[in-house]
Amino acid sequence: MAASTSLALVLAVVLCCGCAATVSAAANSSSGDDFLRCLTAGVPSQLVVTQGSSSFTSVLASSVRNPRFLAPGTVRPLCVVTPTNASHVQAAVRCGRRHGVRLRVRSGGHDYEGLSYRSVRPEVFAVVDLAGVRAVRVNRGAATAWVDSGATVGELYYAVAKADPGLAFPAGLCPTIGVGGHFSGGGIGMMMRKYGLSVDNVLDAMVVDANGTLLDKKAMGRDYFWAIRGGGGESFGIVLSWKVRLVPVPRTVTVFNIQKSMDKGAVDAVTKWQTLAPELPEELTIRVVVQNKQARFQSLYLGTCDQLLPVMSSKLPELAMTRADCQEMSWLQSMVYINGAGTTSTPVEVLLNRTTSLSTYTKNKSDYVKQAISKASWEKIFPWFDGAGAGLIILEPNGGRVSAIADGDTPYPHRAGVLYNIQYVAFWPTTATAAVPDWIKNVYKFMEPFVSSNPRAAYVNYRDLDIGENTVTAGGVTSYESGRLWGEKYFGAANFRRLALTKGKVDAGDYFQNEQSIPPLVTKK
Ligand code: FDA
Repeated sequence: MAASTSLALVLAVVLCCGCAATVSAAANSSSGDDFLRCLTAGVPSQLVVTQGSSSFTSVLASSVRNPRFLAPGTVRPLCVVTPTNASHVQAAVRCGRRHGVRLRVRSGGHDYEGLSYRSVRPEVFAVVDLAGVRAVRVNRGAATAWVDSGATVGELYYAVAKADPGLAFPAGLCPTIGVGGHFSGGGIGMMMRKYGLSVDNVLDAMVVDANGTLLDKKAMGRDYFWAIRGGGGESFGIVLSWKVRLVPVPRTVTVFNIQKSMDKGAVDAVTKWQTLAPELPEELTIRVVVQNKQARFQSLYLGTCDQLLPVMSSKLPELAMTRADCQEMSWLQSMVYINGAGTTSTPVEVLLNRTTSLSTYTKNKSDYVKQAISKASWEKIFPWFDGAGAGLIILEPNGGRVSAIADGDTPYPHRAGVLYNIQYVAFWPTTATAAVPDWIKNVYKFMEPFVSSNPRAAYVNYRDLDIGENTVTAGGVTSYESGRLWGEKYFGAANFRRLALTKGKVDAGDYFQNEQSIPPLVTKK
């Protein structure tokens, strides 16, 4: 359906101001007091950490990854609710609705803009921190698992592989990422070419909706279940747990890490990699990190070194890979190795460590590339990453399963036709100013001619508030039209519209809201 025709069908966009669910942006300290009083009936007091508590700062900071959002002046929550079961979450939602206090939900705290624990605008809000809801229950025979949102992907990997080393799950590399936010936005990882994104492997979920009701997939219905699998965190309720399909992996996998400098053929290798990597056997994923004018080729191969070597010498001889570059190990160990250990001696128990480092500020942005960038252009791109700017890009190839799934099957639309994703990372020490360096904005601008356009696509899990204006209006509701600016970049026009229509059905009063949550779109029948 043409966009203009479909828009004409929208007879009215109703921002449901009269609904009981609507929360005024002007929720004040007295509503905050009422909210806290209300919580005492449903949540044990030791699970509610208020600003006056001596542990407030440490609980708030516990899973924060980017200290930029802990700086003085940041709009902080009234309290952090640390539930241990579904009834506590339901009570928080009901009290929040009743007393006009919004909730931000946090699973792993890795949101690049900190939206799970801070607000950009002044408002009274509370955080529901799911770190205490993090069980992983593996059904080895059925090759499925129920994983709670507060688990990290490292905890998920560990539990699955310990239950059966022949099973695994496709998700991101950093072990401290929370399942709740990660699955809500898609889940790019080293096995997506073989098995798709995390959300492509979600079979069921338990969600607390805007009424405080606990729903499974059947009770949620088709659109609601579709929306939570990649439509971005926060918008549709609080997902408590996910049933996932586990995937088979061989007992031995192979990794390599080959570095090339510009004077040793890095530009030629990256230029070729762009069209080759999406076409490689699905068992082989090679991603590239460009930093210090060098390209680091990091790979996971679901097989042995003997099987991999002939593939590499025939497909990408530019890397001159030899047996000495191969490291064979278990899949679980490979998640430790590729994430930075670079050695097989680091115990896999490191995946259970939830401690995050607060030593650097970061700012991230993303792009998708549909047409290979020329060698001449790469010659100009590499110098942006010269070490002085303390920045890098990570290139993650599409192809295989992730590209075979239709754009509308989940809200994540960046599938067929996409060669690879680019993530831009700027990082700088906390001893310096917290202001984002111009470098990342400038390199992003420089890259514009080389990446997808109309719209310039972005990955919602690499959240970036710069790509659209704040959707929240003075009345405290989000606007569909202004949301299109970032929403169509993250989800494509058709998926964004379906997300907004679904939001209009399940949370018309826009209770679950942040600066980039899906705005409710309600059509007159
Ligand atoms: P956090 O708790 O901050 O939540 C993120 C968003 O989801 C917030 O809006 C939050 O309100 C919402 N949310 C959280 N829990 C929810 C729940 N239970 N129900 C509903 N909404 C919920 N991505 C990727 O695809 N592949 C990768 O390899 C990496 N690597 C990576 C490394 C590092 C160091 C960082 C900081 C981030 C990544 N990411 C990533 C991005 C990551 O997937 C993204 O930030 C996720 O949203 C993080 O999920 P958390 O639960 O940790 O975040």
